[in-house]
Amino acid sequence: MQDIESLVRHADNARVAQRLRDRFPHPYTRGAGLAFLRHATSSIRPGNFAIEVDGEAAGGVGFVPGTDVERYSAEVGYWLGESLWGRGIATEALKLVTGYCFGSEHLLRCFAVPFASNVASVRVLEKAGYTLEGILRSSSVKAGRPRDQAMYSRINPEW
Ligand SMILES: CC(C)(COP(=O)(O)OP(=O)(O)OC[C@H]1O[C@@H](n2cnc3c(N)ncnc32)[C@H](O)[C@@H]1OP(=O)(O)O)[C@@H](O)C(=O)NCCC(=O)NCCS
Repeated sequence: MQDIESLVRHADNARVAQRLRDRFPHPYTRGAGLAFLRHATSSIRPGNFAIEVDGEAAGGVGFVPGTDVERYSAEVGYWLGESLWGRGIATEALKLVTGYCFGSEHLLRCFAVPFASNVASVRVLEKAGYTLEGILRSSSVKAGRPRDQAMYSRINPEW
């Protein structure tokens, strides 16, 4: 819970929120941050991690496993405070979480569906060894506009 101040400082940014699902709020209030931290710290199966830079929580990376026949597959997601963009930090975080999913969680597949226009995120996925499977045309609506999403995945070779 001590991460609340830095979490809100980095997360309260329209340029971060506009590239994420609507459940990542903008403005990102202290109340929203506390609710998220309560959720993240109470999960029996941890799936939300802080990206720690210089001793403070500067972003987040995590995964959501599927259910039923998709139970060995997980969607990964990540964001980073804008002041730290362009230093390879999200790529390193995604590689670590993918390794955690494949190793500790014994998952078969990790995937992500960035907006196709999100060049930075697409680049992060490529640098972390993910492969483009296809474009999901008009699969989402953000800020009132239809958006294509890119389906990227990486398969666990050890499975
Ligand atoms: C996406 C995000 C996590 C990237 O974090 P980051 O730590 O800056 O990423 P990295 O430094 O590891 O890599 C970014 C890459 O994108 C490239 N990039 C960034 N903006 C770009 C642009 N407008 N056009 C082309 N390439 C771009 C960088 O040059 C870098 O590639 P390189 O190493 O080949 O030069 C960060 O921008 C962010 O939090 N964005 C808002 C939230 C978000 O989009 N999350 C992902 C949702 S799917």
